[in-house]
Amino acid sequence: MPTTVLIGAQWGDEGKGKVTDHLSESADVVVRYQGGNNAGHTIIVDGERFALTLIPSGVLYPQVTPVIGNGCVIDPSVLVAEMAELDSRGIDPTRLRISANAHVIMPYHRKLDAVMERFLGQQQIGTTKRGIGPAYMDKFSRHGIRVQDLFDPKILRQKLEIALKDKNRVLTKVYNSLPMDLEPIIEEYLGYAESLKDYVADTSLLLWEAQQAGKNIIFEGAQGTLLDIDHGTYPFVTSSNPTAGGATTGSGIGPNTIDRIVGVAKAYITRVGTGPFPTELHDETGAQMVELGGEFGTVTGRRRRCGWLDLVALRYAVRVNGLTELAMTKLDILSHFETLRVGVAYDSLGERFDNFPRQQRILYNCHPVYEELPGWNTDISEVRSFDGLPKEAKEYIAYVEQAIGIPVRMIGVGPSRDATVMRKS
Ligand code: IMP
Repeated sequence: MPTTVLIGAQWGDEGKGKVTDHLSESADVVVRYQGGNNAGHTIIVDGERFALTLIPSGVLYPQVTPVIGNGCVIDPSVLVAEMAELDSRGIDPTRLRISANAHVIMPYHRKLDAVMERFLGQQQIGTTKRGIGPAYMDKFSRHGIRVQDLFDPKILRQKLEIALKDKNRVLTKVYNSLPMDLEPIIEEYLGYAESLKDYVADTSLLLWEAQQAGKNIIFEGAQGTLLDIDHGTYPFVTSSNPTAGGATTGSGIGPNTIDRIVGVAKAYITRVGTGPFPTELHDETGAQMVELGGEFGTVTGRRRRCGWLDLVALRYAVRVNGLTELAMTKLDILSHFETLRVGVAYDSLGERFDNFPRQQRILYNCHPVYEELPGWNTDISEVRSFDGLPKEAKEYIAYVEQAIGIPVRMIGVGPSRDATVMRKS
C-alpha cells in the first residue's frame, strides 16, 4: 500500500480537499503536516458542504485515522470547535490524533499577526490573520508552546510568563497596542487540554507502525508550492513548507517511504493576498473566472485574483516537489471561454525565462508569453470518462502534460465528489 503526498502546485486553493477526499476513499490514515487554520478545504458530500480548516479532510471517511502532525500550528479554540461541528453533523471526530510536538497558536499570535500586518501598510503580506506567522516565529526562536506543554500546568505557566513578558513589551512599545493578561490565557488553554487530552499521541510512531502494517497513508498539504517559505514568492508566502519535503519533517517519516507525489492545480490559476502573479488578469476575463469559479476564500472570504494557467510556475512545482502526477481541478470553468491561453514563458527586463526566475525583481517585472488554444464551449460537468471529453479539452490536457512532463491522472469537472474524470496509470 502506498504512501502518497498530495500538494498544492500553485498559490493554494487548488481544490486539494476534493482530491484528498477522493484518495481518502481507500486510505487508512490522512495526515496534515504543515500550516494551521489558514487553510480551507471545502468538500461537498451528497449536496452537504463541509468546510474544514484544520482537521484533515479524511475525517469524513469512517475507516480513516486523521492525523495532525508536528509541523502544524494548532489553534485549539478552532480545533475544538471544528470537532464539535463534525460531531453535530454525525461525523465522529474522536479518531483524530494530534502530535504532542505540534505548536500551539496563542491569543498573542493572532493579535501580533493583525498588528504586524497593519504596521506594514502598503507592504502587507495579506495574511489570514490567524496567528500562523507569529506562531512559527516562536517555534523557530524556541519560545513556542507545544501541545504537550498544555498538559503540564506548571510548565505552561512558566513558559507563558516568559512569552507574555516579551510579547507585551512588543505589543505596547512597538505596536502601541494593549498588553494581554496571563491568567485568562492559562485558564482558557487548560480547558482545551481537558477537551483534547484523549487525542494527543506520538504521531510519528503511529505513522511508522501504519507503514510497517502496509496501510495506505495520504499526506495532505495545505496552501501551495508558491506559498512555501523557502520555494515560494518570498516574502509573500506562508510560514511553513507546503512542498512535498515538508511531509517528512512535518510528520516524522523518512523520505524513502514516499511512493507517489500528486500535485493539484486548477486549469487556470488563482492567488489571494499580495505578491507577484505573472499571468494575472485585470480584465473582464479575470472577473468572469472569479464569478464562474466562485473564487472567494474558504477561510477569509476574500476575492481571489485569477489568471490563465502558468506553465512556467507549474513546471517549477513539478521540480521542487518531485511530482509524479497531476490532478487538474475546475476544468469545467474553462468551458465558458472561446479561446484559452496558457503562459509558456516569461519576458522580463528584455530577457526570456523558461524556468521560474529565482529573483523577485524579475518576477515582478515579467510579462507572460502566451500560447493560444481553442476552447470547447460545451458543458463538460456531466462527463465522467476521458474519452467523453470534447476534443479541445483533451488537447488542452495533452498540451499541459507535454509542457510539464508528467501525466494528468485526475480531472475535476464540477464541485461535487463524483464530478471527476479518472485516468488509468
Ligand atoms: P498566512 O499563512 O496567514 O501567514 O498568510 C500568508 C500568505 O499565504 C497570504 O498571502 C495568504 O493569503 C496566503 N495563504 C495562507 N493560507 C492560504 C490558503 O489556504 N490558500 C491560499 N492562500 C493562503
